[in-house]
Amino acid sequence: MSMSTCLWFLLVSSFTGANEVNVNCLRSIKSQVKDPKRSLSSWVFRNGNATYICSFVGVECWDEDRVLTIYLSGYGLQGEFPLGLNDCSSLTGLDLSRNNFSGALPSNIASLIPFVTTLDLSYNQFSGEIPTGLLNVTFLNTLMLQHNQFTGQLPPQLASLQRLKQFSVADNHLIGPVPKFNEAYFGSESFANNTDLCGLPMEFCINPEEKVSRFGQMGAAIGAAIFAPVGAFLGWFFFNGN
Ligand SMILES: *[C@@H]1O[C@H](CO)[C@@H](O)[C@H](O)[C@H]1NC(C)=O
Ligand SMILES: *[C@@H]1O[C@H](CO)[C@@H](O)[C@H](O)[C@H]1NC(C)=O
Ligand SMILES: *[C@@H]1O[C@H](CO)[C@@H](O)[C@H](O)[C@H]1NC(C)=O
Ligand SMILES: *[C@@H]1O[C@H](CO)[C@@H](O)[C@H](O)[C@H]1NC(C)=O
Repeated sequence: MSMSTCLWFLLVSSFTGANEVNVNCLRSIKSQVKDPKRSLSSWVFRNGNATYICSFVGVECWDEDRVLTIYLSGYGLQGEFPLGLNDCSSLTGLDLSRNNFSGALPSNIASLIPFVTTLDLSYNQFSGEIPTGLLNVTFLNTLMLQHNQFTGQLPPQLASLQRLKQFSVADNHLIGPVPKFNEAYFGSESFANNTDLCGLPMEFCINPEEKVSRFGQMGAAIGAAIFAPVGAFLGWFFFNGN
């Protein structure tokens, strides 16, 4: 999607009762998230002019009442990825880091947060596979997923996120090849502390069969190293015995 399509969408959404939609967005997030520390106690909903939602903790707006970013880092929140985000149609930044969120990320994540440029879900308990659908959050320039419980392989399609400047999946349980990012270079600290990630900037990938055959070769080499002297000795023995 081009930037002009994006702007067009934002313009259209401002003529279609977007403020009520934005209120509903925050209302459903609040109902979907467990908040044992009552960090969202300022999120009190009322009728009329919706500009009050912009004074909620963690919420920033543009154009008086459109939610632009939601930054809720370290508030002790729990529960699953809040699907109500769907209604914050102007959202460009989402930070849920350092909470206790858990469960899998929705596979349709791109339809929930299509214009987000910063997505920080680090230091939670999210699990399951990292969804391929993230490739359709095309404006992403910061994607922080470190210190969760993600498993499986990284979708190779993540390499097509052309704006990505900051990226980490460190401290998860991921395996398999690192996507071949062209534009940006991410160091090994972006991939550290996983079960078995391989390929640049980590160690080269060795497929399992190759591992076995290498092991076999190594066995043969060790065998040769052990038996060659024995063979030589036997040869010497029989030669001299004659
Ligand atoms: C909403 O209220 C604020 C102040 O409370 C005011 O500045 C703004 O113009 C109002 N917006 C609308 C659309 O009525
Ligand atoms: C997460 O939950 C555990 C127990 O359920 C609690 O001990 C811990 O403090 C929580 N962490 C945060 C960051 O809220
Ligand atoms: C990404 O978007 C394209 C075009 O809208 C769609 O065909 C494709 O299924 C989406 N991919 C994922 C993994 O959601
Ligand atoms: C990897 O784990 C070690 C030991 O727990 C920790 O000190 C280090 O900061 C971690 N690195 C990253 C990039 O998460």
